[in-house]
Amino acid sequence: PVVSALEIGGVTIDKDDVVKDDPTNNVPDSIYTKLGLQLHKRDKHPLGILKNAIHSYFDTNYSGKFVKFDDLCPIVSAKENFDDVLVPADHVSRSYNDTYYIDAQTVLRCHTSAHQAELLRNGHTHFLVTGDVYRRDSIDSTHYPVFHQMEGVRVFSPDEWEASSKDGTTYAAEDLKKCLEGLARHLFGAVEMRWVDTYFPFTEPSFELEIFFQEKWLEVLGCGVTEQEILKRSGNVDKVAWAFGLGLERLAMVLFEIPDIRLFWTSDERFTSQFSKGQLGVKFKPFSKFPPCYKDMSFWISDSFTENNLCEIVRAVAGDLAEEVQLIDNFTNKKGMTSHCYRIAYRSMERSLTDEEINQLQFNVREEVESKLKVVLR
Ligand code: PHE
Repeated sequence: PVVSALEIGGVTIDKDDVVKDDPTNNVPDSIYTKLGLQLHKRDKHPLGILKNAIHSYFDTNYSGKFVKFDDLCPIVSAKENFDDVLVPADHVSRSYNDTYYIDAQTVLRCHTSAHQAELLRNGHTHFLVTGDVYRRDSIDSTHYPVFHQMEGVRVFSPDEWEASSKDGTTYAAEDLKKCLEGLARHLFGAVEMRWVDTYFPFTEPSFELEIFFQEKWLEVLGCGVTEQEILKRSGNVDKVAWAFGLGLERLAMVLFEIPDIRLFWTSDERFTSQFSKGQLGVKFKPFSKFPPCYKDMSFWISDSFTENNLCEIVRAVAGDLAEEVQLIDNFTNKKGMTSHCYRIAYRSMERSLTDEEINQLQFNVREEVESKLKVVLR
């Protein structure tokens, strides 16, 4: 069902107000229909169960000091999403290829960090923000254009680190790692994890926590010591802070053994009935898996071709029947023309698909790709 008006966190959004052929808007209907679903607020949904478990870890360890927000509107200004957290003007995440823009100044938040600056300005020193975030991306079992994050921020006053022999940054970084390792143990018990140094525009130093899952290291959160500039601008001049942003789906997939990210969106009772309020880490029992069907398509690309644009077309046509889109061949001929071959895996998690249905999907994908992507089908 296409919703035309919805209310999220006190903000009313009228979808029909959004000019559809506005070139500064790249939000497809398949994304609009996800707005306002707020899976993280369902106590019997794996994402809600996980959110509640993380809340209770913070409640127990910080005697309720962390204020929780899970109702902030996902439509934010580009300023809040990027500038306020010091994302450079030329950073890839600002591109129309990576982020959904409602218009040139307004985006679907691509991270919960979009709320950091305002909450700091409002004087909050301990807070958790949970919400749906939106990113244009590839298609596979761990990527979906809408997912959920939880942001955590803690601000320290000078007296807190001055009592130790450490400087503020070292003190905050150590506290941050201790807090998140404790959280990982609270959620997983024993699990293999590792810290990786990384870069974020809003923290320095910055780290990622990875967890070993399905034979691979899976990135589950990013964190670090907040840039002084952010604190200064929010009226916290002499303070130090840490921040983290964790991906709820990634963690929930590991905890509940959920093999495919599309399952979070299904209303199939064989999925939903397996989870109950407060029950963390019940192992999901897959209901009979239907076979995937693979279809290949090859085309000559133009300079403007991007994989994210291709994936968006596949999602628009096939919805959650699209399981994976994979580049399987790539070559440039003597004339300098580049050919890509993509393999699309179609599979329903609820039923078996007929050949006819899949052929129709693939036909529609080819038509759309040809008319929208400036490529030449081979
Ligand atoms: N916003 C970052 C992301 O989405 C995560 C993050 C949050 C990193 C807070 C550091 C501090 O990847």
